[in-house]
Amino acid sequence: MSQSPSTETDQESAADAFTDECVLVLDFGSQYAQLIARRVREQNVYCRIVRHDLPAERIAALRPKGIILSGGPASVYQDGAPRCDPELFQLGIPVLGICYGMQLMCKALGGDVAHTTSREYGRASLKVAQHRSLFDGLPDSMDVWMSHGDQISGVGEAFETLAYTATCPFAAIVHKQLPVFGMQFHPEVTHTPLGSQVLHNFVIGVCGCEGTWHLADFADSLIEQVREQVGSRRVICGLSGGVDSSVVAALLYKAIGPQLSCILIDNGLLRKDEQAAVISEFTNHFKADLRVVHAEAQFLEALRGISEPQEKRRRIGYAFIDCFQKEAESIEDAHFLAQGTLYPDVIESGAAPDGPAATIKLHHNVGGLPEQLGFELIEPLRDLFKDEVRRLGEELGLPEVLVWRHPFPGPGLAVRCLGEVTREKLEVLREADEIVVNEIKAAGLYRQTSQSFAVLLPVQSVGVMGDARTYDNAVAIRSVNTDDFMTADWSRLPYDLLAKISTRIINEVKGVNRVCYDISSKPPATIEWE
Ligand code: XMP
Repeated sequence: MSQSPSTETDQESAADAFTDECVLVLDFGSQYAQLIARRVREQNVYCRIVRHDLPAERIAALRPKGIILSGGPASVYQDGAPRCDPELFQLGIPVLGICYGMQLMCKALGGDVAHTTSREYGRASLKVAQHRSLFDGLPDSMDVWMSHGDQISGVGEAFETLAYTATCPFAAIVHKQLPVFGMQFHPEVTHTPLGSQVLHNFVIGVCGCEGTWHLADFADSLIEQVREQVGSRRVICGLSGGVDSSVVAALLYKAIGPQLSCILIDNGLLRKDEQAAVISEFTNHFKADLRVVHAEAQFLEALRGISEPQEKRRRIGYAFIDCFQKEAESIEDAHFLAQGTLYPDVIESGAAPDGPAATIKLHHNVGGLPEQLGFELIEPLRDLFKDEVRRLGEELGLPEVLVWRHPFPGPGLAVRCLGEVTREKLEVLREADEIVVNEIKAAGLYRQTSQSFAVLLPVQSVGVMGDARTYDNAVAIRSVNTDDFMTADWSRLPYDLLAKISTRIINEVKGVNRVCYDISSKPPATIEWE
């Protein structure tokens, strides 16, 4: 009786049912489309991402308060460049075109777009010509982030200029008759420090939204919805120690209490003391039915002699399904399987109602347990971004250490223990990793970095300790800052902190005599080493 996520366009999500105040982002393939939606939600306005070619009729039926056309990598002059239904500009709903979205809008309404020979990329100083609508209350001059090839060369009679830069005469424009705006710069990125204020001016000032998207209220409505869906049946939920599954479990516990059974598989690949922390949280705080499967031996056996990263992942995946299935079978009346699917997973897998098609790259975290397990799926977080899930976790009373824990890959320490995985190597890695994380926490930088950990390298090098020559392992420290984990920059950790981590690891972790700091960004490197 399995049920995959619905793709029907008239399906109403929990969030749609909760609020009638929504802004739509039409996605033209921008790497920033999700970021735009998150920034709008930060204004307490629900926002969802839809296909760029959604018919105007369908848009009207969704009754959005505003529409944002995202940027995108195409040129409006390219054959097959993505377009929107031009009728949408006539709906009377405020539209904001960003970068490519602005060029498309301008072209549709009579402006000129020119192909500039040099891409403009980076910071620019924006001069505000009119302190109204988008620029209400903003200073005369502000830093903005530009990233474009084409730009508007003339706006004809239809538009007027709101702001400009030294090289971009039409950096922000407004239509003279229609509630239609465009900006060449990206208000959604942090490199446009006042970008949130510009978006606030659009969604609150121009669109007239009241800001009714509050997570605490949404949580109440989710809880109600879960109760209705589940009735008197039983739900099982896999707990990994990560924030998503913890929040799902906490929400379900609040909704259905004793009808929830959680399964934690200890695969021997968890971080130091992780299993104990999850167990104590879920048994002390939530009193949920928690079944711990001790499967370290099974996983290590499956990994014996294997050093190829994808093969490691495959074997871990099979072992996980095997363990989970056996345990789930012992829970007699289980009907639902809860999963911590998030909104980005839903969008990227092409399963969002009215949403864009699946992106080619499938993120590691999409998927999870196969549908053939025979349960009906319950995915209460499928409308939410990660930062919203964290706030929801706080609302539900989960402790800070769980809610703000850095993400951890499903295959766990196996992909940080390069080459063959053994119990001894995992022990060394766990100790080194704990030092990295604890020192970053002690320096007050844990919340400012997105993911920080140790990697055990498959190399030995020569060292000297006391009077003796050593030939021991090397550990790499990895710490990155990122908004979405699709791109990431290495964290500029202070030298003194790196020195302290290095000294502690070499002194305290037996078998390590060298520590390096990984200064590669993603792309071209990935966050994990395998
Ligand atoms: P990469 O290494 O591709 O990782 O830059 C991006 C994010 O995904 C996590 N990650 C995984 N998560 N299974 C998972 O559930 C995996 O196989 C996996 N590989 C990477 C990684 O920790 C980072 O947050």
